Amino acid sequence: MEAEYQGPIPSHPLIEELLSTDSPIRVERRAYQPPLCPRLAAGTGLTRPLDGYQLDVLKVAREQLPLVSQNRLVEIIPGAAPREAAPRRLGIVLSGGPAPGGHNVIAGVFEAALQAHPENRLIGFLAGPRGIITNNHTEVTGDMVAHYKNSGGFHMLGTGRDKIDTPQKMEQCRQTCAALGLSGLIVVGGDDSNTNAAFLAENLREIGVQVIGIPKTIDGDLQVENLCQVPFGYHSACMAFATEIGNLNSDCKSDLKYWHFNRLMGRSASHIPLEVAFQTHPNVILIGEEIEEKELTIHNVVRLIADVIVERAKLGKNYGTILIPEGILEFIHEINVLIIKISYIIASYNREAAEEEAFHKLSLEDQVQLIDNHDIWRDYDSRVFLGLPTELQRGLLLPRDSHGNFQYALVRTDRILLEMVATYLRKQRARGLYKGTFRTQNHYYGYDGRGTFPTKFDCDYAYNLGHAAFQLLANGATGYMAAIKDLHQPLDQWQPIGIPLAPLMHLEERKGRLELVIQKQRVDLNTPAFRILERERPKWALEDHYRFPGPIQFTGLAADAKPITLQLNALG
Ligand code: FBP
Repeated sequence: MEAEYQGPIPSHPLIEELLSTDSPIRVERRAYQPPLCPRLAAGTGLTRPLDGYQLDVLKVAREQLPLVSQNRLVEIIPGAAPREAAPRRLGIVLSGGPAPGGHNVIAGVFEAALQAHPENRLIGFLAGPRGIITNNHTEVTGDMVAHYKNSGGFHMLGTGRDKIDTPQKMEQCRQTCAALGLSGLIVVGGDDSNTNAAFLAENLREIGVQVIGIPKTIDGDLQVENLCQVPFGYHSACMAFATEIGNLNSDCKSDLKYWHFNRLMGRSASHIPLEVAFQTHPNVILIGEEIEEKELTIHNVVRLIADVIVERAKLGKNYGTILIPEGILEFIHEINVLIIKISYIIASYNREAAEEEAFHKLSLEDQVQLIDNHDIWRDYDSRVFLGLPTELQRGLLLPRDSHGNFQYALVRTDRILLEMVATYLRKQRARGLYKGTFRTQNHYYGYDGRGTFPTKFDCDYAYNLGHAAFQLLANGATGYMAAIKDLHQPLDQWQPIGIPLAPLMHLEERKGRLELVIQKQRVDLNTPAFRILERERPKWALEDHYRFPGPIQFTGLAADAKPITLQLNALG
């Protein structure tokens, strides 16, 4: 036996190295300089209208955004850029949930700005839009950019979900921009953040501040047909989740004893489960949009899962993997009605009480009582509500986010469905229709994927977006979202463009009122990706056709991968 070591802790340079926060992969990633597509590589170019696409603006958007709703779609082309007369001060804010690649947007803006004028400055607002409202900022430096380039998370500046939704907050933003002498502001975010960008563009124009949005969200739902196929961050999060599901495929195929119920982040739309399904070929894949189209009830969904479990049990396979979209509840009609009605009741109660959290300060019994007594609540709603598992009932009552959105991430639908399936299978067993064993594990993949290292695709994409945003500003644009068209093509064919924000907006009920917001894009069931999934799914259900994508790679063959759904849909 070795003698126990009792001496002093040794001093050795290796100890410092081993304990450093710089893991070898971060060091390797820092050294990578993302390439620019040829249209951006020559420095600041020109913008010109891009014809052939119909982008209609709603009347209400024209009324609320009279200036920015006149914007036309533009493309960025190399050319003799307008000379920057004086140095500019630009602002940038990371907004909403983190998405891998955000630091590369900052790197892209920063480097494009310095190329255009060595004295250009970039101001980073801290902790999201609140940083603009309260003038909480830091200057982005070359050292910061070099440190964070190609890494995940949003930690260089932090993020937040504040909505700039009152004249007072807008005035505070105006004062911050004026005090800092900004001539441009870049808002990196999803649908709600780009909604903020549109209103900021409208309101800050008179003080000479241009505003450009950047399409970010792991959810994949900020898309514009033929113009913006996916936002940045989506690919990395899908690959992080796919790594885990692939590992579970491997484990359950080895041990042959567990059914894994996996809930995947992505709020309402099912873009993430769709991509993860292609990456891993699980046994059951729920797609919210399909559930809605087929008008399935929650009991139908339980049955759909259970049927595969029963069929596999007949083949002696009491194991498998199941993908559940985080936002599945929105697509189950009878539950969605409850979500909408309860959101409305919460919002009106809080408004009357003039306090954001008033409803949630009530006891559970009082909350239920208040809902029960409300005009819009019917007996039928009560019957549906009371027929749901207690955990789901509680989930439906949870606080909405600052934009009034239902917080799908907080409801454990993996666990809820698992329990409901178990109950159903017990009944089937009693009737002699199920003879398998049902041992389970449930998992939630969400925040881990938002914080993962970006794939090379997202590193390059986000960096090009940063350059595109700067070039739009340099050409006088405001009220646009920077985008890269033709992402499925090799990088040398990518086309940087500016998409006007106003045509992307529609009316949506938020906090009990109709509001003008950027429309989320759901999975289109007519796309090649979904139709191929439909064709392959029965085989994946019964055969063990598992695919093992492995972890995100930064070098070698797998490093150049792009989302499978992006590539399949480009074939349509
Ligand atoms: P964004 O739309 O801001 O990109 O955020 C998306 C998301 O990650 C969803 O997938 C998830 O439901 C939600 O944020 C979780 O929000 P929170 O960070 O407030 O828990």
